[in-house]
Amino acid sequence: MSAGIMTAAYIIAAILFILSLNGLSKQETAKRGNLYGIVGMAIAIFATVFSDGVSGLAWIILAMVIGGAIGVHKAKKVEMTEMPELIAILHSFVGMAAVLIGFNSFIVPPEVIPGPDAHAEHMIHLVEVFLGIFIGAVTFTGSIVAYGKLSGKFSSAPLNLPAKNWLNIAALGSSALLLMMFVNAENGSMFALLLMTLIAFAFGVHLVASIGGADMPVVVSMLNSYSGWAAAATGFMLSNDLLIITGALVGSSGAILSYIMCKAMNRSFISVILGGFGSEGGAVASDAEHGEHTEASADEVAEMLRNSRSVVIVPGYGMAVAQAQYPVADLTRKLRDKGVNVRFGIHPVAGRLPGHMNVLLAEAKVPYDIVLEMDEINDDFADTDTVLVIGANDTVNPAAKEPGSPIAGMPVLEVWNATNVVIFKRSMASGYAGVQNPLFFKENSSMLFGDAKASVDNILHAL
Ligand code: TAP
Repeated sequence: MSAGIMTAAYIIAAILFILSLNGLSKQETAKRGNLYGIVGMAIAIFATVFSDGVSGLAWIILAMVIGGAIGVHKAKKVEMTEMPELIAILHSFVGMAAVLIGFNSFIVPPEVIPGPDAHAEHMIHLVEVFLGIFIGAVTFTGSIVAYGKLSGKFSSAPLNLPAKNWLNIAALGSSALLLMMFVNAENGSMFALLLMTLIAFAFGVHLVASIGGADMPVVVSMLNSYSGWAAAATGFMLSNDLLIITGALVGSSGAILSYIMCKAMNRSFISVILGGFGSEGGAVASDAEHGEHTEASADEVAEMLRNSRSVVIVPGYGMAVAQAQYPVADLTRKLRDKGVNVRFGIHPVAGRLPGHMNVLLAEAKVPYDIVLEMDEINDDFADTDTVLVIGANDTVNPAAKEPGSPIAGMPVLEVWNATNVVIFKRSMASGYAGVQNPLFFKENSSMLFGDAKASVDNILHAL
């Protein structure tokens, strides 16, 4: 393939990636956005594989067939609730790829044309290799720890090493010194590179392990951003413009998403980047200090709904686990047919990944216009007759309003301002952040115990 055709293909792919991101930002256009991304990536792979100077085509195709088969198998098997773990582990692959390509590019450096700029070019290449490996190594181990925490293989509690900020500064400082040593050695120093890689691996583990469970969503999107920067650094090493563009798109969109999520959770962006927040844990009151909770039956909840003019449904992770979105959609239809004003209140981090609830509700054909964001609905709870909290916990926890709570400062859906609140869950267990929820013990709250799908089915039956 000629260089001209390849450049044209890369430009088309880059435009498709930008259109893809644009499409993915809205639910209505997300499908189209995905399609643009698929076509862009197919063009990018085709143009790269068939470009001049690529040899060993059979090996590349073999690797693609094996990788593709594993990918298809995984994608078919993965449950929606396991999606964040899958994303985290996929980020780790990008990180490891950047590390391997970095070492490869150091051992077999690109040819430099002799001339006055040769020395500068050599130096730039060494810096690219060093930074690419550093970001890749942090992304690799950080993503593995995130995967472990999200899948419950590691504890979600924050690791609180003494002087943890100093440890981070020491890792960054020593890496900067090793960079000096690396570029000042005649042909780069393998020792400095290896030592920095080990430090970066440990830095990645420490960075993510220090973050508490409730803040994991931000970490996932931050690692997404890191994996983008790692890919961009790889693009510089390989002098591949499309990889630089793609990496920068992923890196910046991940950073913007992290920023939006930090704002939604009232966390400081800088402290997330430094990997230290979610650790200001305070004392959590025990069950005994909260008092008694009230239980309701499905029949009683059906009666409550019959007498309501305005109902807000607040879904959470438990709705996803129970796959209760279909009966919830049926219940919504039934109530709306009776003239009840039914709306949904979605917290920005409800579930286990951004937009999790929106996807489930869209799947069950709940109309978009009654699915509102937290800020749009929070002031309306005082005028709401009944709130159904279906498998949500941390996102409706009034403890977030109390200083000293591990989730202090996180904005929550203020469901307790409604006349009646019904909480659908299986037990009195705490949510993802491991914090007890005083909402369950309020006078206007009742617990409807059992699997959320079965409970909604029972209410439908009673109605
Ligand atoms: P959670 O606080 O995790 O609470 C979910 C509740 O659902 C649990 O209390 C659980 O109680 C209940 N549940 C589980 N399975 C159920 C079933 N089959 N039927 C009925 N109830 C069931 O969920 P949330 O309110 O959606 O908050 C999300 C949390 O996850 C936040 O802490 C957030 O930071 C974190 N997180 C979010 C993301 C993103 S990006 N959204 C990513 C990672 C982590 P029982 O066990 O008693 O049933």
